[in-house]
Amino acid sequence: MEVVIQPGSAEMASLVADEIERLLAAKPDAVLGLATGSSPLAVYEELIRRHRAGRISFARARGFLLDEYVGLPAEHPEGYRNVIEREFAAHVDFADGAVQAPPGAVSSAELPDACAAYERAIAEAGGVDLQLLGIGSDGHIAFNEPGSSLASRTRIKTLTEQTRQDNARFFGGDIDSVPRHCVTQGLGTIMDARHLVLLATGSGKAEAIHQLVEGAVSAMWPATIMQHHPHATVLLDEAAGSRL
Ligand code: GLP
Repeated sequence: MEVVIQPGSAEMASLVADEIERLLAAKPDAVLGLATGSSPLAVYEELIRRHRAGRISFARARGFLLDEYVGLPAEHPEGYRNVIEREFAAHVDFADGAVQAPPGAVSSAELPDACAAYERAIAEAGGVDLQLLGIGSDGHIAFNEPGSSLASRTRIKTLTEQTRQDNARFFGGDIDSVPRHCVTQGLGTIMDARHLVLLATGSGKAEAIHQLVEGAVSAMWPATIMQHHPHATVLLDEAAGSRL
């Protein structure tokens, strides 16, 4: 695992955008693993800037989101499908339908099949070339909360109180408005990507980053599974790296 400490999110974003620009130049139909949350936002801004400058095209690329809330109406602005559209996809030249999200709006009876279909769609696209990741303060990646099987695949999960608290800021500060369930790619799904790129800023992530880089691999700190990945990059600011 390569750990890179940068002065701030602009420098981190620029390095990740360089990597994505190189990937798309070599493989215009690359498959990008997309993440929501605040950590990758600067990366999306930089990619949009480079797209507008004519440096990057996503016309043949595909995107797969990591996770989605269960039970939000399709048009809810905090549904991750809508978040990624608003913050990134709508501002570049992805083809219609090229960006997909896990199934958050199907009935519970249909969910297992819909999760299996999402896994198949990723595999049929050729697998993820570069997976962007944030990390929760409890060490979760995507919505794989502590205790998640290290081999898990896309499935429904219950969100922890901590994560619902952390994410309440997107729901007017009201934890009761945050859904209780989500559909998330599993740790096994994420580990299939060819390159993992995790971004973290701020002291609130310092303990999770300490565990990720220096702790034992454990389902209690789900991100630690990345220690077993042959090509994982962890980009940090000084505060997120302060416990290393
Ligand atoms: C949510 C998302 C994760 C994200 C995490 C951290 O729980 N499901 O994918 O990594 O939050 O978010 P942030 O980057 O805003 O700190």
